[in-house]
Amino acid sequence: MANTLVVYFSATGNTREAARTLADAIGAGLEEIVPAEPYTAADLNWRNARSRVCLEHEDRSMRPALARDPSPEGYDEIFLGYPLWWETAPRLVRTWLEGHDLSGKRLTTFATSSMSLRGTDGAQLHDSAPDADWVDGRRVAANVGAREVRTWANSVSRA
Ligand SMILES: Cc1cc2nc3c(=O)[nH]c(=O)nc-3n(C[C@H](O)[C@H](O)[C@H](O)COP(=O)(O)O)c2cc1C
Repeated sequence: MANTLVVYFSATGNTREAARTLADAIGAGLEEIVPAEPYTAADLNWRNARSRVCLEHEDRSMRPALARDPSPEGYDEIFLGYPLWWETAPRLVRTWLEGHDLSGKRLTTFATSSMSLRGTDGAQLHDSAPDADWVDGRRVAANVGAREVRTWANSVSRA
């Protein structure tokens, strides 16, 4: 797909795997959103109420800084991938959304999760890029097949 970017964040590799398959399957660009502070295993421990992810989740205004902040310029269609954290996207996805002009760009989410579907459509993120042309996204398995993901991507694409 011409002018299509797959941009993703992945803390433990699952979303990276799905993003690579998607980008490869549709011939899109592939870029990773990288936090300034990488998430350690302790940071990701949701059972600890004082862990980094818990504190970030509780503070809705938290916007973690990015070390790599891919530009969407020049792309018409964007697939945005993230791991589901408490049935929504990690706060740094909003850092990325709010840092760029996404007006008029077709923006479709995909998310990996243990099992949840809620939050994969990206609806909760719309207020971080209100002028984007949002399309409801979906959950994907880390090891999603190229054919499945291509069929889906074609079905939501403008082209
Ligand atoms: C803080 C945290 C919260 C999570 N919350 C959910 C959840 O609500 N539902 C779910 O199915 N999986 C949840 N998971 C599991 C991740 O969504 C899943 O492992 C995902 O594939 C990780 O992607 P990654 O390897 O790209 O970081 C959570 C994981 C973490 C670390």
